[in-house]
Amino acid sequence: MATRYVLSAFTLLTLSLMQATSAQPAGDPAKGEALWLETLHVECRDCHGDEGEGAFGPDLAGRALTRAQFIHAVRKPWGIMPAYAESQISDDELTDVMAYLGTLPGVDEPGPWRRQVPVGASPGLTAATTTGCTQCHHPLFNNGRAMMGAVNADFAWFRSIVYAHTAAYPATRARVGDPPFERLAMGSFSPSRVPDSVLQSIWTYIVDLGFRPRVRGRLSAGSPSSDGVVYTLDVDNSGVEGIGIAAEDVTLSLAIPNGASVVSATGAGYQGVRRDEEANTNVAVWEVERIGAQDHQTYTLTLSQAGSGGDDVRGRLAWANPSVTTPFVNIAPPAPPGGGEAH
Ligand code: HEC
Ligand code: HEC
Repeated sequence: MATRYVLSAFTLLTLSLMQATSAQPAGDPAKGEALWLETLHVECRDCHGDEGEGAFGPDLAGRALTRAQFIHAVRKPWGIMPAYAESQISDDELTDVMAYLGTLPGVDEPGPWRRQVPVGASPGLTAATTTGCTQCHHPLFNNGRAMMGAVNADFAWFRSIVYAHTAAYPATRARVGDPPFERLAMGSFSPSRVPDSVLQSIWTYIVDLGFRPRVRGRLSAGSPSSDGVVYTLDVDNSGVEGIGIAAEDVTLSLAIPNGASVVSATGAGYQGVRRDEEANTNVAVWEVERIGAQDHQTYTLTLSQAGSGGDDVRGRLAWANPSVTTPFVNIAPPAPPGGGEAH
């Protein structure tokens, strides 16, 4: 009897130890790999390297951090790293990511920053690099400036996006009528690490680059009609009504495939066909004075014959005002279903 009693007590103790272990899951490296490489819209890799080899942030591959240390580092970062909320990446997902990174070989020497401070950088660009912004945004903030144009951003908005990203960015998306992202990629920076004065300097740099009007073009695939093949170009400015900035002196061009000729064109401002030496092709051109926030316009081009995979109709949207770096958008027709060649 006495022996049996001892055994049961031992079994109970083992069981409770096992429970304690399963409350702290070890993480699933396969799920973690998928999160790290594919599904995660959260771009840890821009700062920690594709293989966790380190870049702007420290190497994470092969490290033996505990789950608690790892989660703490992401929720309440020690230094400059932006904080990620549970809604962006859950504790269990972080544990999976940690488990995956643990399977990767550690490095002797961490990788270099993806974007270094450019030689001769202004104080603002220097700050945007050393706080980590350009690791994701590119030194020219290529994408961000269209959203800033859509809301004609001021410093208060910019500040809220940087310090309270998970709350402020979905609100902005709702304002411009975009469906919400499932997850946000950018975390929230701490005002104690990136103080207002530093943010002001980054802001000045971006304002000097200039906001872009949030103008987009959508080109349809060619659809056969009685006189040929019709391509439709829809252009819209998704800026907030009465607030978003306009594109002025806009030039729309559609490249005409070899062997095709223009049968007819619709839409205000049609100028006819020109030679585009740079693109080495003929282009149908429209000139439009202004595409303001919430303007939608449709243009059609009927060609004698359709283009083919490598030589299909392509579009280019450019504007002279506001004059900003890379003021054009390239527009391609949708890929044919199944990814095969269009004929
Ligand atoms: C803007 C760049 C940046 C991004 C994005 C970023 N990190 Fe970091 N991370 C850092 C830096 C820099 C540190 C060093 C501590 C600090 O400055 O906060 C760090 C530290 C860490 C640490 C602690 C490492 C240690 O040695 O203790 C972990 C864990 C970590 N990051 C995980 C992540 C994960 C997971 C993500 C994505 C959800 C992520 N980081 C996104 C820059 C970044
Ligand atoms: C981990 C990559 C990453 C880092 C680091 C980062 N951002 Fe972002 N940022 C994004 C992404 C991606 C978006 C779009 C919303 C989202 O997915 O979170 C965004 C959105 C923004 C926006 C809104 C306009 C837009 O692009 O749609 C601003 C403004 C912005 N970031 C400024 C900054 C500043 C300033 C810093 C540095 C203090 C910074 N970001 C650091 C990835 C990053």
